[in-house]
Amino acid sequence: MWNHSDLLLLNSSPAASASVTVVDTNEQTPLHRVHCGGSVLAIAVSSDHIYAGTQGGEIMVFSLDTYDHVRDLKGHSGCILALVLSEDESLLVSSAGDAIINIWRTKTFENVHRIYSTFDIGDIFCVAYSSKLSTLYLGAQNTSIQWYDFRATDKRPRASLKSHPSKRSHRFFDSLGPGGSATPQPPVDSSDVLESCHESQLVEIDPLNIVQYAHFGYVYCMLLLKSFTKEGEEILVSGGGDGSIKIWEIDSETSAIKPETSKTLSSGDSGVLCMATRDQFLYCGLTDGEISIWDLDGQTLIRSIKGHQDDVLTMTVRDNCIWSGSASGYVRKWSQRFELLGRWKAHDGLILASDLKSVKGRDLYFSGGNDDCVSIWDVSYHEDDFPSAYRTTEDELLSTLRKLVSYRTVANDPKFSEDCRQGASLLKSIFRQFGAQSFLIPTDNRNPIVFGRFTPPETPGVESNRQTILFYGHYDVISAGEETADNQWITEPFEMTGMNSYLYGRGVSDNKGPVLAAIFAAGELAQNNQLSCNIIFLIEGEEEAGSRGFKEAVKKYKDFIGPIDWILLANSYWLDDEAPCVTYGLRGVVHASVEIQSDRPDLHSGVDGSRESREPVIDMVNLLAKLTSDKGKIMIPGFHEMVRTITPAEEAMYTEIENEFSERLFRGSIPSGRLKEHLMSRWRYPSLTIHRVNVSGPTNATIIPRSASAAISLRIVPDQKLSTVTENLTSFLYDQFSTFSSPNQLRISIDHVSEWWLGDPLNRAFRTLARVVEEVWEKKPLFIREGGSIPAVRFLEMEFGASAAHLPCGQASDAAHLDNERMRVANLYKSKTIMKKVFRELPLDNDDVGV
Ligand code: BES
Ligand code: MN
Repeated sequence: MWNHSDLLLLNSSPAASASVTVVDTNEQTPLHRVHCGGSVLAIAVSSDHIYAGTQGGEIMVFSLDTYDHVRDLKGHSGCILALVLSEDESLLVSSAGDAIINIWRTKTFENVHRIYSTFDIGDIFCVAYSSKLSTLYLGAQNTSIQWYDFRATDKRPRASLKSHPSKRSHRFFDSLGPGGSATPQPPVDSSDVLESCHESQLVEIDPLNIVQYAHFGYVYCMLLLKSFTKEGEEILVSGGGDGSIKIWEIDSETSAIKPETSKTLSSGDSGVLCMATRDQFLYCGLTDGEISIWDLDGQTLIRSIKGHQDDVLTMTVRDNCIWSGSASGYVRKWSQRFELLGRWKAHDGLILASDLKSVKGRDLYFSGGNDDCVSIWDVSYHEDDFPSAYRTTEDELLSTLRKLVSYRTVANDPKFSEDCRQGASLLKSIFRQFGAQSFLIPTDNRNPIVFGRFTPPETPGVESNRQTILFYGHYDVISAGEETADNQWITEPFEMTGMNSYLYGRGVSDNKGPVLAAIFAAGELAQNNQLSCNIIFLIEGEEEAGSRGFKEAVKKYKDFIGPIDWILLANSYWLDDEAPCVTYGLRGVVHASVEIQSDRPDLHSGVDGSRESREPVIDMVNLLAKLTSDKGKIMIPGFHEMVRTITPAEEAMYTEIENEFSERLFRGSIPSGRLKEHLMSRWRYPSLTIHRVNVSGPTNATIIPRSASAAISLRIVPDQKLSTVTENLTSFLYDQFSTFSSPNQLRISIDHVSEWWLGDPLNRAFRTLARVVEEVWEKKPLFIREGGSIPAVRFLEMEFGASAAHLPCGQASDAAHLDNERMRVANLYKSKTIMKKVFRELPLDNDDVGV
């Protein structure tokens, strides 16, 4: 909503004509946010990377694709104040509070030049680089503008280290930079940086290439522009703390700027903090919220408005829009006529830097602030969420995932069944956007299954006996527990949030992200006419509740689904955060409820507690105690006998992983030398968990509860038979209870079960999967099993007589089912690429027969 002061601002602006429609974009969420460990004072964005200059003097480099932190460029001992790319993006120029300018080669990140002046110039607030003249211009705190022409071979003796700023005892520039806050200097000895750098990198500015007193104040900003009068020549425009803008002609022979012919534009006393230009217009951000717009051709002030309430620290322009960022943390978007189009709060604190870049058809705005973040915003116009020609870029995948995550598709809570239906229908519409057949398969009173089918077009006259791959996944999620007071979520669980190259939100990893990656993979193949087989999707909404109703529904639609050759799923995690994996085994699970009831009501323990009373909770504790020995061994008869004995070959496999991974797996959470046992107990041995014990009544310490209930589960493994395990569990509990001679009633119910699954890691599907994973991640995948369960897998294998293969998309640190569930952007994108290749290549890898 607009607040009062905004309206005042609008009214005071001459641009606020009645016809202007103001788009209030207060709710804008960033596509992603990366933390930089200190204020971000400069940003430059190339086609591949985001460069963020920090208060600590580091230039952090992030991938523009995945937001991964690629590296840090270290070459300054003062806060970075400006970052500029050369026109062809091959060079990055950085200036800082250490009076140094560094030039970096963007391809290799190597530092090619270190430039300094012969005397104290203070902070270097701005730089400009002319590719045409191979000349660097800088504007400094001591009011000078200086330049270095790389075309001229420096005839003077090699720079003597004596005049290097780090070797000088110069007076301390206690400057208040833009925004009015002094930037503390890190305690780095810049001579280290100096000593580590090669002599030939050091470049000293010729004292002749200095214009002293270029402004009567700090030189805060500068831009190089094409000359309006001299074809092919450039001019330099600078803005100063004195409130003036100067236009400098440049001698194209010597690169020198000419004070004699410079023009001064002045609009008052407000300092010029930032500038942007398009065509002949110059947009200047001033102190106290002023914005002035100049026509450089006629050198006239077109308009001066109060654009913000605080200093305007950044100005960015593209096509017909201008974005200004202020010390209050707000960005405002303006039309070319300076009508306000929208505003949003981008940072908690000052916005100190910004840039704009078109990436794959979208306009991205990058802002940096003293909340230590770079935020990335989509500022392109969207007509609606689903443009008619469905774009299949990575970005589309992210925005679709954001939408899918926004539905609270919690299976276990009937309150969310409408969300589940909407989530299912979003999936259906995505399938249809990709041209696939799709509808919802109803289940008995449960959330529907989304069916999708991609069919390659028939070639006339060619008989089609194409294979069919079935992809299984789920759109339901575990409750985020966000209503509980002690939840640890750092973001809103149902508002997907991009942070530090991860996407946070309930379900991003389990299983919405991987499901969408698979749908997009198939969809992109279909759009490019590259489908080599039928791909059927069954995306259910009850997996986290034990896949209730799934079997029955699939059986009912079995003929419609038709024959299946391979089953693929993508619903587990790597062993650590680095090694790509393929998963060939899952444990099964038996979930049971145990209830003990007396036929009496809740009682008062002071009145009714006696030696004779048999309390249900005490019976429960005694009964549950029978399940395990005091060493933790599971005591159900026949339980361990059914576990498959380990062969030397299998044992060797564990040893191999241990040898390779012991050191780094789980970041030391497993005592060294115990990785093998740890993995075995997680993958190939069963386990028992008591999840909760509840009591009836008010649970205060004077009441004897009339009943107690407990939830327990058993993870089961090859070759434990599900039916035998459940029978043995129930009869064991009843038998034990009968020895108690208690008058209370015991009831046991099996809530849901899941068969274990053991795939054949040598079959064609796994071979294709492993080959493709290696191609995409450029690392051989690890073959692993998992301790978790997915009820549908074994059922689908049996029902369709096809083998399953499992691609884990997430990392070990994804925190599925927990607070702060997340998935790395790179994992999502790479998983899509992997599935695309597998969908395409599995039917063609025809070197042996199926199973
Ligand atoms: N993705 C998990 C299965 C999983 C868990 C794989 C841990 C690898 C490691 C799945 O969504 C899940 O949570 N399954 C439940 C099944 C249960 C509700 C029948 C599980 O394992 O508890
Ligand atoms: Mn799960």
